[in-house]
Amino acid sequence: MAQQEELFRKIISHSKEYGFVFPSSEIYDGLGAVYDYGQNGAELKNNIKRYWWDSMTLLNENVAGIDSAIFMHPTVWKASGHVDAFNDPLIDNKDSKKRYRADVLIEEHLAKYDSKTEKEIEKAAKRFGDSFDEQKFCETNPRVIENQAKRQALHTRFAKALNGNDLEELRQIIIDEEIVCPVSGTRNWTEVRQFNLMFSTEIGSTSDGAMKIYLRPETAQGIFVNFLNVQKSGRMKIPFGIAQTGKAFRNEIVARQFIFRMREFEQMEMQFFVRPGEELKWFEHWKQTRMRWHKALGLGDKKYRFHDHDKLAHYANAATDIEFEMPFGFKEIEGIHSRTDFDLSSHEKYSGKKIQYFDPEQNQSYTPYVIETSIGLDRMFLSILAGSYTEETLEGGDVRTVLKIPPALAPVKIAILPLVKKDGLPEKAREIMDRLKFNCHCQYDEKDSIGKRYRRQDAIGTPYCITIDHDTLTDSAVTIRFRDTMSQERVTVSALEEIIADKLSMKNLLKQIKNQ
Ligand code: GAP
Repeated sequence: MAQQEELFRKIISHSKEYGFVFPSSEIYDGLGAVYDYGQNGAELKNNIKRYWWDSMTLLNENVAGIDSAIFMHPTVWKASGHVDAFNDPLIDNKDSKKRYRADVLIEEHLAKYDSKTEKEIEKAAKRFGDSFDEQKFCETNPRVIENQAKRQALHTRFAKALNGNDLEELRQIIIDEEIVCPVSGTRNWTEVRQFNLMFSTEIGSTSDGAMKIYLRPETAQGIFVNFLNVQKSGRMKIPFGIAQTGKAFRNEIVARQFIFRMREFEQMEMQFFVRPGEELKWFEHWKQTRMRWHKALGLGDKKYRFHDHDKLAHYANAATDIEFEMPFGFKEIEGIHSRTDFDLSSHEKYSGKKIQYFDPEQNQSYTPYVIETSIGLDRMFLSILAGSYTEETLEGGDVRTVLKIPPALAPVKIAILPLVKKDGLPEKAREIMDRLKFNCHCQYDEKDSIGKRYRRQDAIGTPYCITIDHDTLTDSAVTIRFRDTMSQERVTVSALEEIIADKLSMKNLLKQIKNQ
């Protein structure tokens, strides 16, 4: 556990040191749960976005991409249910004046019961050595039994309060379990109340003409309200999908774990419109397709798993998360939801406009059902950083830190390195750079020893380093060094483009999604 926390700390500081992620407005001490992407982060983010966008719009003839506005008519959020139900239960400690999510305080308390049991198991495992039978120990040890029973009772009570939206009971649980404020250490709590997560602002210049609007908390609604526009202008036939990427905003109360939970983040969402009755078939289709998209990156199949929802939103008839093994455990990076006809029907009701599809094959009109795939770009970014961050001890004891980012997504694809800063090598290197820069992002570096330059490129995940030496001037060959194996090969300049193009191409990733 401590090792994983240490790894996470290292990833965060590496991100900053190498220009991936910076705290927002850092010179003013930052802004909670808001981050900026640096020169390498922006490249990586754009590459992930391109991989997602191409997988949706190139591989599926029936998926069209749009880019809708962040500001939307406020009734959109009434129709979607966000004005009334996009809430977190909040509680304040009167002594520290700190605010918490009541459900998170209780979840953290539940986790304490788990770690108590784990400690008992660890102690016993040490005592009994090879003969230790964990299952038998948990079934017979009185302390473990008592602890587990208390945990179970608390969990049942908590789930009932949460599902029943019983705020008084949530507070009572906090009191009964003697949960203290981590800052003041006291149990001096306020009532629990609901807090809406949407940010609001005003549109219009005069106070009487101004209208309260929201920053969108999801991009999906921009797709629903454009359903008819895209269907008609694109002559789309069901089944078809609409995809978009863009910023979303949520006033998260418990914002932590770096870019995992942010107040301003980016989503990549696709709504797939189908005939009523066919939604579960398409749900399964997208579930499998999206998992293949993740696994094609080669970070390790075991790092992903599905987590089907036990409790479904009232409008959904199936839902699953794709989780990735972060340094802080398996966590949701993408949701796949079967949303029935809830959104389109609701917009039809609130707007008074008919939002239906005439199906020529069935000779009837209906409100399509929807399968949604919704992935957070920032969480995807974090999964790639966490999955690719590696420390390797080299012969001689040096440690190299390398980001084994899938080559097609790497911020810099090729580093061009003249061995020395003289003898015409920089000029030759520039000549090669001028040739390759039309294919992909190249970086020229002539400062420091070649070893130091390799380490710098390893740290930002550059898959190929090309070294230009004195022989290059006569034999037109260069040394190509491969990031993951550190092996080197001598190749002619003319062969370079071909060798590299294939390995760096997004095409190979996309083909894997189709072929798996
Ligand atoms: N339209 C459906 C929707 O928005 P969601 O589960 O609330 O569903 C979808 O969000 C994805 O957006 C999540 O799986 C996650 O990757 C990302 N996401 C949600 N809240 C986030 C936050 N505060 N910070 C970063 N990413 C977030």
